[in-house]
Amino acid sequence: MRTLVTGAQGCIGSWVVRRLVEQGHEVITFDVNDSAARLEMISSAELVSKVDRRVGRIEDTEAVKKLVREEEISHIVHLAAVLMPFCQKNPVQGGLINVIGTLNVFEAIRDAGRKIPLVYASSSAVWGPTDEYGEGPLTEDLPLKPSTHYGVFKAANEGNARNFYSSDGISSIGLRPWTVFGPGRDAGLTADPTLAMRAVAQKKPFQIRLSGHMDLQYTRDVADIFIQCLLSGTEGAHAFNLRGEVVAMEELRGMLEEIRPGAAELISVSGPEVPVAYRMSDEALVKTVGEIPRTPLRAAIVETIEKFESLEG
Ligand SMILES: NC(=O)c1ccc[n+]([C@@H]2O[C@H](COP(=O)([O-])OP(=O)(O)OC[C@H]3O[C@@H](n4cnc5c(N)ncnc54)[C@H](O)[C@@H]3O)[C@@H](O)[C@H]2O)c1
Repeated sequence: MRTLVTGAQGCIGSWVVRRLVEQGHEVITFDVNDSAARLEMISSAELVSKVDRRVGRIEDTEAVKKLVREEEISHIVHLAAVLMPFCQKNPVQGGLINVIGTLNVFEAIRDAGRKIPLVYASSSAVWGPTDEYGEGPLTEDLPLKPSTHYGVFKAANEGNARNFYSSDGISSIGLRPWTVFGPGRDAGLTADPTLAMRAVAQKKPFQIRLSGHMDLQYTRDVADIFIQCLLSGTEGAHAFNLRGEVVAMEELRGMLEEIRPGAAELISVSGPEVPVAYRMSDEALVKTVGEIPRTPLRAAIVETIEKFESLEG
């Protein structure tokens, strides 16, 4: 098994790469960023040295096709993307990277002419704001009402995935994380819960710049779910919600205080709510690939703070 991971230098990508290598798989990465800093933060130097790293742009159609065609890629995890704030400010560039980049991955599989399982990152941002939906859980049959360019791009990718299955028989699973947190998360609108955990470890003040609720999902679990889907042999074009534990930002502040007394003095909460509904059901995912890892939120926060404390020396 030789897996191509795009966007591998990012938060989720570093964990996917680490877990794949730990399981004995060959990994080749493709990212515009040459730095393996996040992977180095969470892995041994020996593990990092086993990864075959390539630099390039996901919107470069020829580069992506050549890689898949010539490198005996057997599986793909596609994560390369720019996040919500970037897409909101730069919709054209955001569309090229997030939509054309994803089309490139599908076309590369089609043109390689062999079966290559694909799992790609969609996002909870395909949902609109909470008040667009009723009280019940969000299941995959409900209409998508994304309220940001980023969410619209992710919804387009899910639609294109369905078309690549019906036209070319390419199976794929799109996963919709909400807020991924843990060591390595430092970019994007919803990085603040992790940045707050880092601030607690560093004993520095930090303001969480968002309020309201978030569905917090631990990076290691998210990476393991991507790999579980990749190895599941699932046929068809699927898009699944991911679910972690939903907390209000003030509750998170309270949990940080319980875990490290004094944290509430350092951490404040103030800002807008993320315009994305947060009551996602993951029943369809579990029904398709079986039970998935669920590290309890408190345990995952403790692990994250301890990791940041160890980095402080
Ligand atoms: N982190 C979350 O909470 C979250 C939530 C929902 C969806 N997602 C999705 O998961 C995926 C990974 O997110 P992440 O949190 O690891 O983000 P990240 O920003 O940490 O990683 C994204 C990676 O993509 C790379 N990249 C950006 N532009 C590129 C380009 N033009 N060509 C090649 N590589 C490029 C970046 O260098 C980076 O390494 C993304 O598709 C994102 O939209 C993340």
